[in-house]
Amino acid sequence: FEPPKPPAVREEPEPEVDDGKKKVAIFFGTQTGTAEGFAKAMAEEAKARYEKAVFKVVDLDDYAADDEEYEEKLKKENLAFFFLATYGDGEPTDNAARFYKWFYEGKERGEWLQNLQYGVFGLGNRQYEHFNKVAKVVDEVFAEQGGKRIVPVGLGDDDQCIEDDFTAWRELLWPELDQLLRDEDDATTVSTPYTAAVPEYRVVFHEPANAEVDRSLSNANGHAIVDAQHPCRANVALRKELHTPESDRSCTHLEFDIAGTGLTYETGDHVGVYCENLIETVEEALNLLGLSPDTYFSIHTDNEDGTPLGGSSLPPPFSPCTLRSALTRYADVLSSPKKSALLALAAHASDPADADRLRHLASPAGKDEYAQYIIASQRSLLEVMAEFPSSKPPLGVFFAAVAPRLQPRYYSISSSPRMAPSRIHVTCALVLDKTATGRIHKGVCSTWMKNAVPLSKSNECSWAPIFVRQSNFKLPTDAKVPIIMIGPGTGFAPFRGFLQERFALKEDGTELGTSILFFGCRNRRMDYIYEEELNNFVESGALSELVVAFSREGPTKEYVQHKMMEKASDIWNMLSQGAYIYVCGDAKGMARDVHRALHTIVQEQVNDIFSYSLVTHNKRKSN
Ligand code: 2AM
Repeated sequence: FEPPKPPAVREEPEPEVDDGKKKVAIFFGTQTGTAEGFAKAMAEEAKARYEKAVFKVVDLDDYAADDEEYEEKLKKENLAFFFLATYGDGEPTDNAARFYKWFYEGKERGEWLQNLQYGVFGLGNRQYEHFNKVAKVVDEVFAEQGGKRIVPVGLGDDDQCIEDDFTAWRELLWPELDQLLRDEDDATTVSTPYTAAVPEYRVVFHEPANAEVDRSLSNANGHAIVDAQHPCRANVALRKELHTPESDRSCTHLEFDIAGTGLTYETGDHVGVYCENLIETVEEALNLLGLSPDTYFSIHTDNEDGTPLGGSSLPPPFSPCTLRSALTRYADVLSSPKKSALLALAAHASDPADADRLRHLASPAGKDEYAQYIIASQRSLLEVMAEFPSSKPPLGVFFAAVAPRLQPRYYSISSSPRMAPSRIHVTCALVLDKTATGRIHKGVCSTWMKNAVPLSKSNECSWAPIFVRQSNFKLPTDAKVPIIMIGPGTGFAPFRGFLQERFALKEDGTELGTSILFFGCRNRRMDYIYEEELNNFVESGALSELVVAFSREGPTKEYVQHKMMEKASDIWNMLSQGAYIYVCGDAKGMARDVHRALHTIVQEQVNDIFSYSLVTHNKRKSN
């Protein structure tokens, strides 16, 4: 395995002399590559439209080495666009974190960006509370600093069709850019609508290697840091099923061995895991592509003479390998295809009817059909390819434009380094659903984890490239501060880390504040995960109180929020002492309901206090 290389910064060479061309900077803050892809797509289309301007696409991290340089360089920009993804709790992506912190903290700088005209497009998901927070903040702060917003902030929603949001935003942008970048005399130069070329790698086929070169990572990955671009190889030391055989679902407890990797973590952090597609998935993809699994090839983003390929929105290349390996490790073939993927398939369909239908699905006229046929029915890329069998994209197109890169999956680490310094524990529920088309969808990473062979069973154990992502889901620095934890199902994962940490602190003689955990599951006999450990935490005093809601034991559903209502006055007491509240788990249903329950608790308790104080006050009066 060789991890994806860090995205190359494709800066147009800055001309030494002023060539009279207007300079436009397009920045991206990206985690999975979508924001970067949009930035590059915008640059490409803009280049085709405005010959008298120069566009550079820049990774925000690479733009400046420190805060001063950010300030110095930004001051000189006249026209800039920002593609910014928001993650988790309204956080920026890793490569935008430094910029965002500096920019946000410098809100008081005054109007120092008066030369700047700008536009911001955000990438987020409406299911989350802080929808597109980073883009909204950056857009507002730029305006406060004197920048001139030339297009309203775009709020891309990944829950729907983010490509459509991007298209709609671009349509607002072009008339503005026409005014800024087009001279009177070339007003007629772009009259035909721009159609993006299908991106394609240059592919070189090699003699099949006798044995595939094992490019697996050594434990120490040879880099000073371990991150998404430089993961390290970690063996699966232990795996066990947490549900009992009575349960019809599955939840895996898995431990990665990080001894000797240089990898460290803190309680509450996330682990990113690069997993592999199932053999059956890879076989299906091989059949549909009609190519031999042993095809040994490499992909390149430059021409043979070293000049960059036209079309700059290519994901970073991977090292030479067999097609089987490439499909196993790099290709996401189970997600629904993007519209750009449908266009790439159309370009390589030998049956004109297939090509027409694919193009229609990707067109503005086919918007509703795309939403229904692709998104609502969760059609996978493999399903779509099977339904349009005349489309046989070559490998350079398949990996550049059809199958997105298989992304790492993030899990809350369910251990504490105080208890497990050389292990990273993961608690992962199996994703297994039947889609509207009748396909059984198996989550890529959860299935891999369920099937993983641990070192405890075989020396040929499973392993994965992993890395740690810091989080702000942390225990209070003062252990005496009370904590309220709400985590049904695998939402308990980070709290297991918290409790291990508190257990270790207590062993060391640290005084602990009160803690209460609301855990929920269906049934004591089936999915009460880590039951024994939980009881031990209570016994040892690491956890003051454990409250469990069983949703399918009695005649009515009992959820964590119902138990919280029963404990309203305890919760209120803890809050009055400055307790921290942590909620982890399903953000769509449970987290919202829990939020509502907390509101009710606070409202009712405040009302009680208010009426109580009124009564005492009246009493005093009458005395
Ligand atoms: P259910 O499956 O019986 O509906 C862990 O998944 C637990 O969370 C299960 O007991 C599940 O119950 C419960 N759960 C499902 N929806 C919930 C919600 N909106 N709020 C709280 N708990 C919920």
